[in-house]
Amino acid sequence: MTAEHDYERFLRARHRPGHGRRTAERWAGFLLPHLHPGMRLLDVGCGPGSITGGLADGLTAVGIDLSPVAIESVPVAAADAAALPFPDARFDAVYSNALLQHVADPLAVLREARRVSRPGAVIGVGDADWGGALVHPSDPAIDRGLAVRAALRPGGHEVRVGRELRGLLDEAGFERAEASVTGAADGTADAVGRVAALESSWFGAPEVVAYVAERGIADPDEMAAIAAAWDRWGEHPGAFAARFWVTALAWVPEDRAQRDASARPAPAAASPRTTLAAELANASSVEPSSSRRTVS
Ligand SMILES: C[S@@+](CC[C@H](N)C(=O)[O-])C[C@H]1O[C@@H](n2cnc3c(N)ncnc32)[C@H](O)[C@@H]1O
Repeated sequence: MTAEHDYERFLRARHRPGHGRRTAERWAGFLLPHLHPGMRLLDVGCGPGSITGGLADGLTAVGIDLSPVAIESVPVAAADAAALPFPDARFDAVYSNALLQHVADPLAVLREARRVSRPGAVIGVGDADWGGALVHPSDPAIDRGLAVRAALRPGGHEVRVGRELRGLLDEAGFERAEASVTGAADGTADAVGRVAALESSWFGAPEVVAYVAERGIADPDEMAAIAAAWDRWGEHPGAFAARFWVTALAWVPEDRAQRDASARPAPAAASPRTTLAAELANASSVEPSSSRRTVS
C-alpha cells in the first residue's frame, strides 16, 4: 500500500456518501428541461450515481467512472472519460458533474464527450471554481491550507475550471454554450461549525498528512497548524465562507444531412437499450448487485 493509495481510499470513503445524496433536481436542474423520453444519456464520471438515477427516468441512461459502483437501474462501466468505450454519435445527451476538476486535461474529456454525441445532442456540465471563494476572517494558515490542497490536484493548482466551462465547450466543438453560476454559503453557527470540523479533520487525517509529506508539500507540523487554524475559525462568532458552482449547457451543431434524414421515417434498428448494453458488455461493466433493472 502506498501513501497515494491510502489517500485516494480516504478521499473516496469521505466524499462518496455525500455525493451519493446528490439529486438530479438539485445538481442537474439546468439540464432537465432539455431531456426527453427515449433519449440516450451518458453520465461521465457518474460516481455513486444518485444524480444519474434521477436523470434516467424515461431515458436510456448509462454511466462511466474510473472507480465505478453499481447504480440502481442504470448500467455502469469502468472507463476513462478521455477514452470512452462508445462509437461516435451514440448519445442524445451527455451530463458530467464535478469531474473536470479532477482531470488533468478537461478539454480532452469534453472533446471525447463531443465525439460520442450525435448532431443536435445537448451537454450539461457542472463544476467548481474556488477562485472567488470567500473565507472570513482570513488566516495565513488557512490560505496555506488551500495552497496545500491545490498542490495535490491534477496540474497542481486551485480549481478554476468553473469559469472555463463555456470556453472549453466551445473549443471542444459544441455551440451556443451558456454558463451560469450558483453560490453556496456557510453563514450560520451550525454551517460554520460543520465546515471547520470537516476542514480540520481533513488536514489532520493521517492519510492526508502522510501523502502530503511524501510529496514534499508540507510537513506534519504545518498540517497540524492548518487544522488548528480551521478550529479557531470555527469558533469565531463572525466566521463566514462562500463559494461558486458553475453550470453550462451547449449543443452539438446540427448536421444538415442528418436533419433532412430525420424528417424521413427511420429504418428499423436495434433498440437503443440493446445497443448500449452490447457496448457496455465490451467495456468492463459493473453489474448491479441485486434485483436491479437489467438492460435488455
Ligand atoms: C466528485 S466525483 C463526482 C461524482 C458524480 N458526478 C456526482 O456529482 O455525484 C468525481 C468522479 O469522477 C471520477 N473520475 C475522476 N477522474 C476520472 C476519469 N478520468 N474518468 C472517469 N471518471 C473519473 C471519480 O472516480 C469520481 O467518481
